[in-house]
Amino acid sequence: MRLTILGGGGFRVPLVYGALLGDRGEGRVTRVVLHDLDAARLSAVGRVLAEQAAGVPDAPEVSVTTDLDEALRGADFVFSAIRVGGLEGRAEDERVALAEGVLGQETVGAGGIAYGLRTVPVAVDIARRVARLAPDAWVINFTNPAGLVTEAMSRHLGDRVIGICDSPVGLGRRVARVLGADPDRAWIDYVGLNHLGWVRGLRVAGRDELPRLLEDPALLGSFEEGRLFGPDWLRSLGAIPNEYLHYYYFNRETVRAYREADRTRGAFLRDQQAGFYDEMRDPGAPALAAWDRTRAEREATYMAENRETAGAGEREADDLSGGYEKVALALMRAVARNERTTLILNVRNRSTLSVLDPDAVIEVPCLVDAGGAHPVAVDPLPGHATGLVCAVKAVEREVLAAADTGSRTAAVRAFALHPLVDSVAVARRLLDGYTAVHPGLAYLR
Ligand code: G6P
Ligand code: MN
Repeated sequence: MRLTILGGGGFRVPLVYGALLGDRGEGRVTRVVLHDLDAARLSAVGRVLAEQAAGVPDAPEVSVTTDLDEALRGADFVFSAIRVGGLEGRAEDERVALAEGVLGQETVGAGGIAYGLRTVPVAVDIARRVARLAPDAWVINFTNPAGLVTEAMSRHLGDRVIGICDSPVGLGRRVARVLGADPDRAWIDYVGLNHLGWVRGLRVAGRDELPRLLEDPALLGSFEEGRLFGPDWLRSLGAIPNEYLHYYYFNRETVRAYREADRTRGAFLRDQQAGFYDEMRDPGAPALAAWDRTRAEREATYMAENRETAGAGEREADDLSGGYEKVALALMRAVARNERTTLILNVRNRSTLSVLDPDAVIEVPCLVDAGGAHPVAVDPLPGHATGLVCAVKAVEREVLAAADTGSRTAAVRAFALHPLVDSVAVARRLLDGYTAVHPGLAYLR
């Protein structure tokens, strides 16, 4: 089984490789191809992987290339984990929005739109090449904004592309844990878009345990989302929102806190990770130790950097770092070995949410088997959630239209119609600000 990782020079790749090393099952990945545009980053990460594999019998063989077509040919699975514009681009996405007084964040609001406008054309090019060079491959999209990017790729790959995110899985696990339920046996009723979904129920042996949580302020105060949103608001909503909904429900407070912070998250990560790649310029430097140290720092500062929004909760290291690669490996196993499982994934809606068309990518529990990911039937969303989901999907469609046609008018519509951008004048200035700093937006006319 051959796995190609696009964005193979990325900092999180050793987490994926670590998960692969632990997989001894039949039909496991035996060959990993890392692709990246940046040869130095590829070689740095390649060295970490080589040290991880030392002493592990039958460790998956690793090769690296900067040639995309070569990387795709013969792939059974493709992980797409690219970051167009790098962390420098992420920092600019955050900065330009905050300077206008609106949310500057990786995936939500103005920052997410800018990131989407840069990323969709690149993701579409990848999807076209996969369709031509590896038509039977499954593409697992990690690239943010994950829902939007998965939808862009699905226009060329259909249901062969599946988007993943660790946040709904982590949320479900935390809710199960506070209820004393086994996360692997609980049925989590969750639906929405990526970074815009709600847990509406948690059934164990057919019984919904969520009302018990919503009635208990002490229990509600005992986990991350409970502290983040506050027990009163959760009780009043009757659901547990994905942590990213904090940017909607407490937008003003977040924007203020982010504007007052010394550095944005993107700027912090840019500086911190540059340290790792710099260290790797020394061919004799131990790679795994440097990577481990950088990663530990990154996790330690996660809460410090996000304290205003994350309610100073202690996010478990496992939920933070063990998420993506576990979901990705579980998904790959289920597809490759026809091991039926249920995972919350980003797939085409079909008839799941009747307010959206069948091709709209949503985030929903799916049954996964060798035939792919099949969304399960869920209850409709309440009106307030439907309103947000439809508004944000309409924005995503404007981003897709802008990427398709190069239309600036569509790009302005995307910013202006977003619920977290409060003026058309601001939307126009945002687009001007972003095109001034991002070469990847030069296609907009
Ligand atoms: C969560 C989200 C991802 C996002 C990440 C940011 O895991 O689900 O979509 O990319 O957080 O983490 P970072 O450490 O890069 O700020
Ligand atoms: Mn995510």
